[in-house]
Amino acid sequence: MDEKKIVYFEKPGKENTEATLKLAFERAKELGIKYVIVASSYGETAKKALNFLDEKTKLIVVTYHAGFTGEGQKTMDEETEKYLRSRGVVIVRQSHVLSGLERSFTRKFGGISRTEAVAEALRSLFGHGMKVCVEITVMAADSGAIPIEEVVAVGGTARGADTAVVIRPAHMNNFFDAEIREIICMPRFKKGEEA
Ligand SMILES: Cc1cc2nc3c(=O)[nH]c(=O)nc-3n(C[C@H](O)[C@H](O)[C@H](O)COP(=O)(O)O)c2cc1C
Repeated sequence: MDEKKIVYFEKPGKENTEATLKLAFERAKELGIKYVIVASSYGETAKKALNFLDEKTKLIVVTYHAGFTGEGQKTMDEETEKYLRSRGVVIVRQSHVLSGLERSFTRKFGGISRTEAVAEALRSLFGHGMKVCVEITVMAADSGAIPIEEVVAVGGTARGADTAVVIRPAHMNNFFDAEIREIICMPRFKKGEEA
């Protein structure tokens, strides 16, 4: 048996970014975890995460796939990408695992796919940040940016960060091998208020 701290934020959102990153890197250090994976669409959270890096930890930043905001468009600009790379950050930009090709069918024909149902269950029960933690871990594993060993993942609600977990990754073809081992922090009310 092991007793550990979980921090609950009152509301989801980017005002929890610094606290989330601090807790995430602290837990990685405590557990001797080498890889911290952070979602960052434009690079803001990624740059903040650099403040918590030490020589033992590797930062993997997962950003939106090209075309997410418009055909051919990338959310993270080249200058930011270059700067992050110069600081040793690995950037992952690839198809999103929890929407994937199914998103096109849903847009064209309606309904919902099994993949999107998994995403929605994670979002509704645990918040957007938790869905993102799971998704970016699989994306990082599938890009070969992390080994299959315990990592810390950090996600947020639209912008910034508000959720962090210790997770055992899996590839997308073995998704159910993934395990959330520890919740480090998350918003208590997922939709921003008590319902
Ligand atoms: C692959 C990917 C999927 C994401 N999915 C969601 C989502 O379903 N819901 C959500 O609120 N935010 C989502 N985000 C946003 C992240 O949780 C995070 O808040 C954001 O990437 C931080 O970007 P910033 O550093 O530019 O603020 C996603 C981000 C990425 C990279």
